[in-house]
Amino acid sequence: MKLWGGRFGKETEDIVHRFTSSLSFDRRLARQDLRVTEAHALALRECGILSPDEYQRVLSALRDMGRELEEGSFPIGGDEDIHSAVERVLVERLGETGAKLRTARSRNDQVAADLRLYLMEEAAEVMHRLTDLMEVFLDLAEEHLGVIMPGFTHLQPAQPVLLSHHLLAYFEMFKRDLERFAQARSRMDRCPLGSGALAGVGFPLDRWLLAEESGFGGITANSVDAVSDRDFAADFLYAAALTSVHLSRLAEEIVMWMNPRFGFLRLDEAYTTGSSIMPQKANPDLAELIRGKAGRMVGHLVSLLVMLKGQPLAYNRDLQEDKEGVFDAAEQLRSMLEITAAAMRTAEFDRERMLEAAAEGYLNATDLADYLVGKGVPFLRAHEAAGKAVRMCLDRGGIPLEELSLEDLRALEPSFEEDVYSCLSLQECVKARDLPGGTSPGRVEEALREARDWLEAEGRRLTR
Ligand code: ARG
Repeated sequence: MKLWGGRFGKETEDIVHRFTSSLSFDRRLARQDLRVTEAHALALRECGILSPDEYQRVLSALRDMGRELEEGSFPIGGDEDIHSAVERVLVERLGETGAKLRTARSRNDQVAADLRLYLMEEAAEVMHRLTDLMEVFLDLAEEHLGVIMPGFTHLQPAQPVLLSHHLLAYFEMFKRDLERFAQARSRMDRCPLGSGALAGVGFPLDRWLLAEESGFGGITANSVDAVSDRDFAADFLYAAALTSVHLSRLAEEIVMWMNPRFGFLRLDEAYTTGSSIMPQKANPDLAELIRGKAGRMVGHLVSLLVMLKGQPLAYNRDLQEDKEGVFDAAEQLRSMLEITAAAMRTAEFDRERMLEAAAEGYLNATDLADYLVGKGVPFLRAHEAAGKAVRMCLDRGGIPLEELSLEDLRALEPSFEEDVYSCLSLQECVKARDLPGGTSPGRVEEALREARDWLEAEGRRLTR
């Protein structure tokens, strides 16, 4: 059964039907389509298109279909799309009454409503998984308070930081991700039903009732926009792509830190995979896959934006191409978040390796310069003197700054005194960064507390 056909003197070619059909993927919207159809039936009853009795029959048919859908016995197949499938079954089971459901709606407003509902649910699920992951990072940061690692810029040793500080950097990214999904979700929460094909419909449907019954908090303002708008899908894909980029940066660090030359981190063996030829291997494949999938996620966002950019208003069939990327993105992101949380929860950090690495590469050189500033030397000159001190160390086979004698240092800058050595220990370097957002133990503990409070209060509120 087609939802059109009257004006056609010919049957659609099979290859055209196959090419234009979206059923193979939009069947995922079946649950949403039933819900939206139920709301529509109620609105039709309210304006007298369906009698109360007809409405009851439609309602019970839709509920049967919902059950069949869950059991996997819903008779889908051969239809142009999920909307046609639902309506075909209604007509098969209810005859004339089923045929009334097409009144005052179009698949254009219907598909927009279905997809919004779908993405609202997916956003909620993603947000839950994000909070799980954030919790893991808070636990890790708490457990490793006091552990010092080398911080990097340009991937070169830069300054010592607390491992907890580094972990909390990821918490901040995930927090922004969570907020982005919450914002995206609230923008999705507008019901396009009643927009019809593009102009609105010629029956006095109660749009607020439609919205409420199908699960929306509000209605869209303009019917032309409502059927052509896919900003909500782009919002979702952007939030998903950026979250994936964050996960990918973490994945890249996992890969590096798993390399024995770093040796900062060991994923639990159950989260690594082997090689078919090299018996010794336990590879971080899951992190590599996350890095790879992030590319695919960015691709979905770009595909959608490019697909939208050339379309005149209002609905165009191009829009059907929005779905596969969105479905895939939602599914991939769920699994990426799940596996990252599980892998990190069971991973082990090697404190000694981190500390050892932090002791190499003159990470305290900035502190040597800062020390001189404390003695009244302008930073530019202090930097020069500290740089010369590093040069001196390198010339002596790479000894650490602490091994230079006071005479050595004074030859570079007379303001050096005996107390210089106490500012050079890694603990002191970390402690010195004692301002909001800095890596001193006090600030990190404070940040950890704030992060926990945020997750408990705001995080819970957003995911409710
Ligand atoms: N399957 C279409 C989509 O996903 C909805 C159908 C709209 N088709 C139409 N000829 N107006 O966008």
